Amino acid sequence: MTTVDLDARFDPRELRNALGRFATGIAVVMARDSEGLMGVTVNSFSAVSLDPPLILFCMARSLKSLPRLEKVTAYSVNILLESQQDVSNRFATAGEDKFAATQWESGPSGAPRLIPAHASFECVPYAHYDGGDHVIFVGRVVHMHAEGEDAPLLYYRGRYHTLAGRAE
Ligand SMILES: Cc1cc2nc3c(=O)[nH]c(=O)nc-3n(C[C@H](O)[C@H](O)[C@H](O)COP(=O)(O)O)c2cc1C
Repeated sequence: MTTVDLDARFDPRELRNALGRFATGIAVVMARDSEGLMGVTVNSFSAVSLDPPLILFCMARSLKSLPRLEKVTAYSVNILLESQQDVSNRFATAGEDKFAATQWESGPSGAPRLIPAHASFECVPYAHYDGGDHVIFVGRVVHMHAEGEDAPLLYYRGRYHTLAGRAE
């Protein structure tokens, strides 16, 4: 009989390294409330559902902006272009004035959206789920922009990558 150790614990660095073998794109989640703008770099973005149109991303409970993000009525998820490593780094650095050198506009949902972006999804909150030391945000897409053929920025094993081309 197989036994499963539900209390298995892993060295956090080893677990992070193993999970980092899953190649992803990079997105910046942006929102605004009465205190101002907020934005966070994420690679935990995923498509969820086509009907209704749902996406998700995970936010660490340690994030300074988490309590505010949980209350906003709209946010955007902006998929970064290959040329936007600087944007990824800026929105991954706590304490930075993340919007100082960032071009953005107010989208139809009222959420700020990054310009340019490989694609942008403006969402209203659909659900927040417990995800251990993260909160899983599920958003319902209310507007989207996806134009242009420029390449996306990729993240793999803790480093930025570019798309080498389509597999045969
Ligand atoms: C490539 C990359 C991907 C990231 N992905 C996530 C993520 O999915 N979830 C998360 O909570 N933090 C992620 N981070 C870290 C956050 O961007 C960073 O902790 C955050 O910007 C700090 O925001 P704060 O000022 O609200 O604390 C990522 C960082 C990088 C560089």
